[in-house]
This record gives sequence, structure tokens and C-alpha cells, in this order.
Amino acid sequence: MVPMLSLAIESTAHTFGVGIVDDKKHVLANVKDSYTTEAGGIKPDDAKQHHLQVKDRLVAEALAKAGLTMEDIGVIAVSQGPGLPPCLVVGMEKAKELAREYKKPLVGVNHCIAHLEIGRALSRANDPVLLYVSGANTQIIAYDGGKYRIVGETLDNGVGNFLDKFARILGLGFPGGPKIDALAKQGKEYIELPYTVKGMDIAVGGLLTNLQQKVHAKKYTQEDLAFSAQETVFAMLMEVAERAMHHCQKRELVLGGGVCCNTRLREMAELMCKANNFRMFTVPNEFLVDNGAMIAWTGLLQFQAGIQASPDSMDIRPRERTDDVEVRWR
Ligand code: ATP
Ligand code: FE2
Repeated sequence: MVPMLSLAIESTAHTFGVGIVDDKKHVLANVKDSYTTEAGGIKPDDAKQHHLQVKDRLVAEALAKAGLTMEDIGVIAVSQGPGLPPCLVVGMEKAKELAREYKKPLVGVNHCIAHLEIGRALSRANDPVLLYVSGANTQIIAYDGGKYRIVGETLDNGVGNFLDKFARILGLGFPGGPKIDALAKQGKEYIELPYTVKGMDIAVGGLLTNLQQKVHAKKYTQEDLAFSAQETVFAMLMEVAERAMHHCQKRELVLGGGVCCNTRLREMAELMCKANNFRMFTVPNEFLVDNGAMIAWTGLLQFQAGIQASPDSMDIRPRERTDDVEVRWR
């Protein structure tokens, strides 16, 4: 039987990605181009311009990489939200254009759920809790009663944005996460910082303000501050993730989101899982960060469950939450 192929576009934030997968979980292409800056954070309208410039090239590149043409594709998926509206619009328009031109079915995908589904697809996890830590999003997600529930989340900023803002205060460029990761490895001393866990949620605003004051006080090294910031914020994540797993009676943890590329975060997650007899699963970094393959795979699951939308009525959903989505494919 000819495999069913799904091509998808991801454009919720700074990354424009195109992925192609088949129904046997093979990733045939996963290409991307990300908007970056030397200094300062992400400007949504600049990211949009970036996406407009790369979109056609990336679709062509993905097809060439997979050795396919649009005629071979069975379904087109697009990440519908949550995300930045100027960025989402570019992916949505491109997906609609392809669906109309080649008369293909179209499926809208929730970005956060896609992080979890790619973790399940590419690891041996079956019913995991997802620790999803990216720029804008920080959530702990578990499947229960036909939906993916957010059992814990940040009350203010995503941990990736927090790390990026802290890096900006230190005069480093965007994205700052990898730079903080490297700097923290040189840290020697832990500096006491505010630790904010409220129920199953975390908050990072106070921590950022405190770090800003400490940077301006010039009493501490950048290395020690980076080290202490990571230890503090990742410990907050571990506390709520651990509690979520016990509450939901799940024994598998899957990591998702760009911040989970961080070596220290992975180490702490492994320690937490080991101490509780949980199993931890992770996927290669290209599937942790925003990518088209995860949207293609989740879109394919949805399509096979009978879900599709018309290009005329489909729109972006910048504020969609994971529990707005009815999960008909599990
Ligand atoms: P969204 O929030 O919609 O998922 P995003 O563009 O923020 O979008 P990702 O690509 O998953 O999503 O994550 C980007 C974030 O990951 C940035 O904040 C970046 O600094 C961070 N990041 C990337 N690599 C590392 C690393 N090694 N350590 C810490 N953070 C990292
Ligand atoms: Fe993401």
C-alpha cells in the first residue's frame, strides 16, 4: 500500500518550518529557517517579514529533500495556534494556497499538542506527561478524559522568554537560551534567588526583576548568575512536573520545546525521574524546537480520525489552549 504523506507548515513564532512525514512515523523532511537578532528580542513584524521571505523556498526544499512533488502529498497541515498572529498568518496563507492549488485536504493543528504527539511518535512513551518548555509556552500537559489537560503552567512568561530576556540584560543576542546554558557551565557559586511555585503553576517575573537588580549591582559574576538562574527556574519546573505525574498517575515523562535542549534541564529531569522510578523520554533536538514534522505528524493523526477543514473557513487561533481541542485520534 502506498503510504499516506502529510506536509505541514509551522510558523507560530520565530521559526518557519516545513515537515513531511508518512503514516509509518518516518520523517522524510524537516527543514526550517529561524529569525534571529544580534541584540534585542523578537519583533513579531520582523519575524513575519522573515517568514514571507523564506516560505516558498522552504516548501520546495522539503519536497526536494523527500524526493517528492506536491501531487504525492495526501494531506496538508498547518499550525493554527497558539502563537503570534503576524507569524501565524504567513503559515496559514501558504497552507491554504497549497491546499487550493493542488486540491488537498487541510488540517489545523494545535502547536502544543504537536510537541507531545511527536514525543510519543518518536519515543517508546505511550501515555506520557509532557514538560513543554519553549519561548512563549511553559506547560505541563497530560491526557485525561478525551483532552490534553494543562495541569501546570507559567502564570506570566515562558521560561524560554525568561532566559532570552535575562540574556538581553547581560548584553547577549537572541535566542539567549543556548548562551545562558554555556555561561552557566562556568558558574561556581549558587546565589540565592526568588523561587516562585504557586500550586501547580510557576511564575518567573519576580526572578527576572531580581536578576536584573543583581546584574546592575555588579557584585556577582555573569557565570554565577546564569548558573543560579538555571538552577532556580529548572528546580521550579521539576517540582511541578513531579507533582503532576503523581497526581495524574502517569509514569512517563516526555520533554518538548526548545528549552529542553538545555543540558542542565535534561540532567535534572533525569534525576527527578530516577528518584521516582519514572521513565524519561526525549527526542533529537530538531524535534524539540519548533518544527514542521511535529505538525505534519499530528495533522496526519487528525486527518485519519476524520478531521479536516475548508480553506475558506479556516483561520488562525492565536490563543487556542490545548484543552480547547477534542482529541479524537486517541
Ligand atoms: P513557541 O513558544 O511557540 O513554542 P518558540 O519559538 O519560543 O515558540 P522553541 O523553538 O521551541 O519555541 O524554543 C525557543 C526557545 O528555546 C528560546 O527561548 C531559546 O532561547 C530556547 N533554547 C534553545 N536552545 C536552548 C538551550 N540549549 N538552553 C536553553 N534554552 C534554549
Ligand atoms: Fe513550540
